[in-house]
Amino acid sequence: MTEPVVRIFDTTLRDGEQSPGVGLSLEEKLEIARQLERLGVDIIEAGFPVTSPGDMAAVQAIAATVRTPVICGLARTRRGDIDAAARGLERAAHPRIHTFTSGSRVHLEHMLRMTEEQALAAAVDAVGYARGFVDDVEFSAQDVARSDPAFLTRLYVAAVEAGATTINIPDTVGYTTPAEFAGIVRALREAVHGVNPAVVISVHTHDDLGLAVANALAGVGAGATQIECAVNGIGERAGNCALEEVVMALLTRRDHYGRRLQVRTEELYRTSQLVSKLTGMVVQPNKAVVGANAFAHEAGIHQDGVLKERTTYEIMRPEDVGVPESRLVLGKHSGRHALRERLTALGFRLGDAEFERAFTRFKELADKKRGIADADLAAIVQSEVVAAAPEIWRLQYFHVTAGTETVPTATVRVLRRDGEAVLESATGDGPVDAVYRAIDRAVGQGFVLADYALRAVTGGQDAVGEVTVRLADASGRTATAMGASTDVLEASARAYVAAVNKVLALPEAAAGTVYAGAAGAREPAV
Ligand code: KIV
Ligand code: ZN
Repeated sequence: MTEPVVRIFDTTLRDGEQSPGVGLSLEEKLEIARQLERLGVDIIEAGFPVTSPGDMAAVQAIAATVRTPVICGLARTRRGDIDAAARGLERAAHPRIHTFTSGSRVHLEHMLRMTEEQALAAAVDAVGYARGFVDDVEFSAQDVARSDPAFLTRLYVAAVEAGATTINIPDTVGYTTPAEFAGIVRALREAVHGVNPAVVISVHTHDDLGLAVANALAGVGAGATQIECAVNGIGERAGNCALEEVVMALLTRRDHYGRRLQVRTEELYRTSQLVSKLTGMVVQPNKAVVGANAFAHEAGIHQDGVLKERTTYEIMRPEDVGVPESRLVLGKHSGRHALRERLTALGFRLGDAEFERAFTRFKELADKKRGIADADLAAIVQSEVVAAAPEIWRLQYFHVTAGTETVPTATVRVLRRDGEAVLESATGDGPVDAVYRAIDRAVGQGFVLADYALRAVTGGQDAVGEVTVRLADASGRTATAMGASTDVLEASARAYVAAVNKVLALPEAAAGTVYAGAAGAREPAV
């Protein structure tokens, strides 16, 4: 007997894009949607069309371009939302409208200001109305884990009677536990299958307690055949169920779960890298499946074991998830051809101008560091080439004096786009602060440093450090940018200048806009 299929419903572009600080442009959303199609996901939730013209345009563009997966648009249980979702999906080959309300009293009373009966009536109306546009309608009631089970059952049964073809069971606030969630899914499955046995049961879990993947898997154990998830687990607060983790758990433990998937797992790493670089959300090194250390072995016993027999410490093969195997060691003698090949293997598709910038930065790095690891290369190219805004200012050089008995002082020279060089100096509380104040002076404007984070990309004394900064100007325009170098101060300065360029690229009217994307992006976060 063939195993049942579990469908992967990707919500990176909707729930994932709701992550604080993320705002993707239309081109970036399209690029991610195309990669999700290559990855083989079954459904792409492309956005929430009623919320903004940007979301509407993105859903329309994805619906017109990405033909294999189902394209889904989100809508509250309001006719206006459903009209907008239907408009967004007009050109989709396989459209789905996903309409949602809430099941818990806390949501109904304080947020929706509705009684249970009003929510139920609106849900029935919305599902029936959506069926007037498309045959494929999904219904969700937020916050199931804190809802009254009897009301939930009535609500979901009513939605199925009204024509819902998928019922999605969301643990919106990441509150449930695997055993409890399995009970909720089982009870709802039995109730709705009593009305229509063909209805698809879906689970949607959040990671507030770090249980999103475990809860989704428990849902599958209880009969769910659709999982909603996001690449790298991005999403509201602590995020959504991580696509790459739930997929590899189901496949690696196929003996246990007995399910099949359509996903092409060799595309997982590339997808993760793409989402990380376009959202600016860094993948932590110890992240399961796609983190830099996911297949690295440090301890002697582990290295010895893996060298003798890989399966001693590896339950998945790196190539199964598309982690490129380095055969060439890149160094200062490597040329354009080798770099181009390695970047392609790492998932970067660069135009000629971008490639030349990457090559220049690669050569600068190779002068300082002997063997360049994939992670070093990815950090440099991702932060300073792919996710860079147009260069209004360029850091030419800087000099810092600092020490225990010295007031930190920095001198920087920056070049303006028109070629004019500006040299400025400043003192600061520390060397990084001094560099940042000197840059402020040189560009003639002050910025508030809202966030600063440093991480070592690779190990060793010549490790590449990656600095992420978030800056705001006086009008509230905010941008996130990264810089990478073997010198932490240089990485800090590069990140700061990149963020200045991004802030300055935002229109004045976009005060409050968060910009984390590549050149030209102007989309406010939803
Ligand atoms: O977390 C949630 O409840 C959601 C719904 C819109 C499905 O994202
Ligand atoms: Zn959600």
